[in-house]
Amino acid sequence: MSHGPETRILIWILSVFCLAFAAPAPQSLREAAQHSGVLIGTAVRPAQLSEAAYAATLAREFNLLEPEDALKWEVLRPDAQSFDFRQPDQVVDFAARHNMRIRGHTLVWHRQNPPWLTSGDFTPDQLSKLLETHIKTVVGHYQGKIFAWDVANEAFDEGDRTGKLRSTIWHDQPGIAVATTHEPSAPSNPAPSELGARGSPSPYSYLAQCFRWAHEADPAALLFYNEAEAEEINLKSDAIYAMARDFKHQGVPIHGIGLQMHISNLHPDIASISANIGRFTALGLQVHITEMDVSLQVDANGNASSADLQRQANIYRQIADACLAHPGCTAIQTWGFTDKYSWIGSHSKHTQGAALLFDSHYRAKPAYEALRNALAAR
Ligand code: XIL
Repeated sequence: MSHGPETRILIWILSVFCLAFAAPAPQSLREAAQHSGVLIGTAVRPAQLSEAAYAATLAREFNLLEPEDALKWEVLRPDAQSFDFRQPDQVVDFAARHNMRIRGHTLVWHRQNPPWLTSGDFTPDQLSKLLETHIKTVVGHYQGKIFAWDVANEAFDEGDRTGKLRSTIWHDQPGIAVATTHEPSAPSNPAPSELGARGSPSPYSYLAQCFRWAHEADPAALLFYNEAEAEEINLKSDAIYAMARDFKHQGVPIHGIGLQMHISNLHPDIASISANIGRFTALGLQVHITEMDVSLQVDANGNASSADLQRQANIYRQIADACLAHPGCTAIQTWGFTDKYSWIGSHSKHTQGAALLFDSHYRAKPAYEALRNALAAR
């Protein structure tokens, strides 16, 4: 079929118009995420910020940063009296220069604590004072700079089968002395794992106390409870749900749940993860995906098969879709971004790795394209 000259001119004008005004494909994750309502973040190592490719990729792709280790007690606290903010301050400066938000990780955890703390034989009263000072000083130092904090991390037992609180220095070894001024309310429909006898302190009181201290130090900061192996619906996420609901009843200042999302089997139950995000957001809490990586089997050179790289891409896309389907899921963050610097590999004798969006030469992997497409589709 041939067109007359007028029709051809019209088609030409229309094509030029479309090329000029059609939205260009997003060039980065942060550009793709711009209109999606979610922040796109990653964990960072201050020592690497001076590496040009590391810094350029970070600034181009992400609008949210979280120090991977630099805000943990073992880095921040050389001794019981002092605070060393040099490492996290580097991340905060970088974020400010590149118009990025910052998540803080983490104030209360059983790991990466300095020996002076863990072997200090402190009494509950002393520990309580130490923790209160730590939380208020650190949150206060970053007031207005760190917009969201993982107040507590991994306070429940390892695995997803008990739903019990973990024995830690903060909880019961010997635990902090908890002020009893805030008696738990009796919710109309308490879950079995929820409260002790009416009027007795809730087993979660020590965590509630930490959220209150953080809130006092920065009333505008969003306060999260962050956990591993609680992505799907299981005994651990049930227990966290019961705790969060109890906190909401009592007016404990909690604003969100962090789901770590370290995935090491290639078959996560996406429907269960989506339902879990749904029940937390239905409580009026935000959900952040805080530490996503998808580790693959790798050869001696650290390379994964192309079939596994595709499976990995699919999982990144499905998790992003599950988050984006719930308006209360407001951040997707990966635990590092280049396979050059990833905690996967360091803890699995190098048979697992290649878990992140860029390879060790900062080349985008299929997972990167999949995530960018998922973000751009919203
Ligand atoms: C990891 C860091 O990535 C490593 O650099 C460090 O040696 C150990 O901790 N869950 C968490 C993170 O909440 O803080 C952990 O980070 C990974 C598991």
